[in-house]
Amino acid sequence: MDVTRRSMLKWSGAGVAAAGFAAVIPAGSAEAAAVPNAGSVTAAAAPSAATQAAVKQAKQLVAEMTLDEKIAYCHGIPATKGFTGHIPANERLGIPALRLADGPSGVGNGSTGVTQWPDSKALAATWNPATATDYGKAYGAEQAAKGHNVALAPCINLLRLPHWGRSFETYTEDPFLNGQLAAATIRGIQANHVISTVKHFVANNQEILRNSIDVVVSPRALQELYYPGFRAAVQQGQVGAVMTSYNKINGTWAQENRVNVQDTLRDAWGFDGMVMSDWGGTHSTVQTAKAGSDTEMPGSTYLGDALKAAVQSGSVSEAQLDTMVTQVLTAMIRVGLFDHPLPDPATVVDTVVSTPAHLALARRIGVEGSVLLKNDGVLPLARPRSIAVIGNAADAGAQTHGGGSGSVNPNGAVVTPLAGIRARAGSTPVTYSPGTLGIAAVPVVPAAAFGAGLTATYYASTDLTGAALGTETVPALNITATPAAVAGQTDGWSARYTGTFHADETAGYRFSLGVGGLTTLSIDGKEVLTALPGREAVQNALVDLTAGEHTVEVTYVSAAPVGGRAPRTSLVLGAQAGYDKLHQAAAAAARAADVAVVVVADVTSEGMDRSTLALPADQNELITAVAQANPNTVVVLNTSGAVLMPWLGSVKAVLANWYAGQEQGNALAAMLFGDEEPGGRLPETFPAANDQGPAKTTVEFPGDGVQVYYDEGLAVGYRWYEHSGEKPLFPFGFGLSYTSFRLGGLRLSRTAGGLRAQATVTNTGRRAGSEVVQLYVAAPDAAREPAQQLKAFTKVTLKPGQTTTVTLEVARDDLAVWLDSTTGWTVVPGSYTVGVGTSSADLPLRGRLSLS
Ligand code: BGC
Repeated sequence: MDVTRRSMLKWSGAGVAAAGFAAVIPAGSAEAAAVPNAGSVTAAAAPSAATQAAVKQAKQLVAEMTLDEKIAYCHGIPATKGFTGHIPANERLGIPALRLADGPSGVGNGSTGVTQWPDSKALAATWNPATATDYGKAYGAEQAAKGHNVALAPCINLLRLPHWGRSFETYTEDPFLNGQLAAATIRGIQANHVISTVKHFVANNQEILRNSIDVVVSPRALQELYYPGFRAAVQQGQVGAVMTSYNKINGTWAQENRVNVQDTLRDAWGFDGMVMSDWGGTHSTVQTAKAGSDTEMPGSTYLGDALKAAVQSGSVSEAQLDTMVTQVLTAMIRVGLFDHPLPDPATVVDTVVSTPAHLALARRIGVEGSVLLKNDGVLPLARPRSIAVIGNAADAGAQTHGGGSGSVNPNGAVVTPLAGIRARAGSTPVTYSPGTLGIAAVPVVPAAAFGAGLTATYYASTDLTGAALGTETVPALNITATPAAVAGQTDGWSARYTGTFHADETAGYRFSLGVGGLTTLSIDGKEVLTALPGREAVQNALVDLTAGEHTVEVTYVSAAPVGGRAPRTSLVLGAQAGYDKLHQAAAAAARAADVAVVVVADVTSEGMDRSTLALPADQNELITAVAQANPNTVVVLNTSGAVLMPWLGSVKAVLANWYAGQEQGNALAAMLFGDEEPGGRLPETFPAANDQGPAKTTVEFPGDGVQVYYDEGLAVGYRWYEHSGEKPLFPFGFGLSYTSFRLGGLRLSRTAGGLRAQATVTNTGRRAGSEVVQLYVAAPDAAREPAQQLKAFTKVTLKPGQTTTVTLEVARDDLAVWLDSTTGWTVVPGSYTVGVGTSSADLPLRGRLSLS
């Protein structure tokens, strides 16, 4: 462990008490003792009368239940297509069944007839809680119409790093924005009498080893970064259910982590509803029950018969079991499930629940959540004479949703960027050129290309050393089962494949690898690709080859076994000639048109993390080729989040469009042609390079195989950039409009404990537009914060020339910091600097205020 590195992070609370590091301010020190109001902020409010009545009714029901009836609420039974978790009805007591369905951006689990919405990143980029509520209402209505009364949404894990494969499912790197959006979405969902399930509690910030990784994180970072979204979900959103995460937190599995579930979620925040595991995320019976959790999903390994036996033997008290069941029923009663029965999902499998109004809302979110990152005057398009649409992602490869449990079937056809632009362009000529073979795997190299095949040499070691276990000849690299020679090597193995690749033509080749272990590809003695398991399903290399024979060498090291299970063996090598010709054709199309619109994408999913923030395959090269051919090049980023833009200086405009759902093309066309303006602001920082941002070492991401250290403490997202001085490509909160705004006249005042800022905003341009006014606060030094923080924001829409006064209120609770477990949440007295502006890096209005 690198103690020096850690001890430098004094402000961060990076030291983890459990791991033997001192807290930032030692408990009981003079500084800590001098801080007033310990524990006086962010406490749970007294339960409302409705909540009290729900708890009372739940307890009455539990009092009438047999032991078996109670146990039934502590686990799921297998669910059929359309939903993914199920607790049957209790007919005797009139309790409805629970049917749980994914996911954050639409009704998932293979459901049909539903809207495929823009992803959570797009929703977050609206910076508009009212829009989040509108979304929650419409999405929740579709869940209800499909007979699902528990929505497994929203996902609100803080975006610790942009590499997270589930980045598209979550909102943001900022805990305040996260909480506002979470509460707003939940209110919308639960207005349908559908329980919203906020997930994944907590510190689920990577997919690599997500089922086993132990997150080593300081109590302070938990309190200030990773908890607040969940706290807002509970206290502001009155969420009905919480899903625990797969990972461990400071040594203990999430669902059996008493510190998080009972002590924090329930006792400190007052959560009275249901706590369920992630799917397969339960690891014990007694410890889970005693941690404050209720339900195992989707099966009953630990909280079925084993729980019954534990209650009968007294290792779990019946009172504890009663509490668990009461919590499940309280959520059901409080959200109104008893009074609003839903159809049996089996009867509505084929029912279309997407509506024209929902599609219109999907378009609105697509527009309001798209972020204009650069615009040298080319947008909106002013009556172009012709448009060249370029990119596989503009058509067949459009990424309108992410993968895994967050994937959603569109109702009907997806409107691709090309289709949307063509429909809107009317008589303006639109050409299309794919420009790239795409971002999916290219065809597997056929055996014929390897002539006599490849020689495989197997090793018992995981570094290709030691005596060979054996050799064989394999016809091609399309290996999806563990080779017989190494089948018994449970601690891992490695292999080297050598042979000759025949290039049919002199051309630019794209090679693709899909791997289950660490793999290298060398051509003619030069390593051209290192592919990592747990990362992109397809990893690519571009190699220019002359026609004829080329030596090829591939090395493969099996991944480490997880939980005693052997890792998946997979080694699939694809190759296709001609990427260069596609670039040339795209450049020719661009040259012939007035304007070129290049749509580029990444492919991300639950179950993988990005190995790089670079656009996959040959898309950077494609953009460069197009930009050289046409000065009016617009790049549309159809991506899960931040990507690197080495070509930024050579293009006129860049629009971050995220995974924009089935109405993507229509929303995009409306923005390009200026019918609408992109209204989004970045909910995450866009780094300028792969090595920017926190977690620069392997132990910090993705971890050492067992633990991952959140050494950056509080310096996540823009907090990191401000503290470290690294200059990102685009800062958090940034986004352009089609008009321009001027901010002025800052007035600061104290309110009951908190502060108020007022400022004027003027639309100084020639068209109506919206701006997000953001307020950041820098606390006094004694608060030991790495950077100023977002504490309030508001979105305004103004006509040309119009001025309005915005009022931004910061409650005292939102000024509190969590210094250590002795002080708890506290407002540090002293001078606070307030900055108001339009991004974390552009705060022209500044003032100071002292608070006691
Ligand atoms: C995911 C959850 C999801 C669940 C049910 C898990 O793999 O992590 O987010 O709700 O599956 O599909």
